[in-house]
Amino acid sequence: MIEETLWHPVALACDLTQQPLAVQLLAHDIVLWRDAAAVPHAWADQCPHRGAKLSLGRVENGKLECPYHGWQFAASGQCVKVPALPSFTPPAAHCARTYAAQEAYGLIWVKLSASESAALPAFAAEADERLRKLNCGPYDVATSAPRLVENFLDMSHFGFVHEGWLGMRAATAIEDYKVEATPTGLLATHCKAWQPQSNVHSIAPAQVEYSYEVTAPYGAVLTKVPDAATVSVDGYRESIAMFICPITAQTSRVWFRLAVADFESPDDKLRDFQHTIFMQDKPVLESQRPQRLPLDLRAELHTAADKASSAYRRHLKNLGITFGVC
Ligand code: FES
Ligand SMILES: [Fe+2]
Repeated sequence: MIEETLWHPVALACDLTQQPLAVQLLAHDIVLWRDAAAVPHAWADQCPHRGAKLSLGRVENGKLECPYHGWQFAASGQCVKVPALPSFTPPAAHCARTYAAQEAYGLIWVKLSASESAALPAFAAEADERLRKLNCGPYDVATSAPRLVENFLDMSHFGFVHEGWLGMRAATAIEDYKVEATPTGLLATHCKAWQPQSNVHSIAPAQVEYSYEVTAPYGAVLTKVPDAATVSVDGYRESIAMFICPITAQTSRVWFRLAVADFESPDDKLRDFQHTIFMQDKPVLESQRPQRLPLDLRAELHTAADKASSAYRRHLKNLGITFGVC
């Protein structure tokens, strides 16, 4: 499955401390833990001895200890101690099932398949020191990861779902915009929206120009630059990455990584704006049926205003994505 060859976010890095942490990815139970050097590890959450959940255990001297019979596993996955047989040296086959893990964008990322190398989804704003980075979430949502990405790319819901914030009923027309294919998905540019409250610093309604990029099958980035006269902060602009953990085909965990030209506002002020917007999206997202995104374009209706989402569906189909779609 191609999804297993990709990196997926599974937890906030700051939530993985001394205790093992249970997460789910692509319907697999996974335990996350940190060794003595604080390096994150992701393993199958199932002890190879009798199948107990390793996430119920603890970390002892940089080793993961199973809650059931206390077997200890080194960072490599190798069992190094069987307390019931103190003089026994476990053979190489006494090993936990390990996956690749790494920390980036303030999140822990996991890749289930060892067979292919893949890059993390790009977030160009990350390297821009003039932008402050901040994560919002997690949000658990009862829908598939592709439905979430498609909603993130969708502008024609602004005047209804985000009325008074990102849109208004008096200005719902979507001007033609440009969509081009990229190696990771698509780039939509010249996306324009008339927004009463475009961002946390808006002081007047504004015509805002967006660009959207699909950076991974389950990830996207938007960048918006409001007219300077409509914000209270000089040179305000923002990029927002949506990172999604496909937990099951119909449930997802989402984080937003904000990169904003604002080093003054408290974290909560920036998070509250994003939270307000996403809480408006969530009930509609969870109401969509089917929860998986239909890739057969005949299954739902499309207009020219939806061309970014139609391109996204075609991209997932061409890639051979099967998880979270139908
Ligand atoms: S089930 Fe893990 S040590 Fe026995
Ligand atoms: Fe929305």
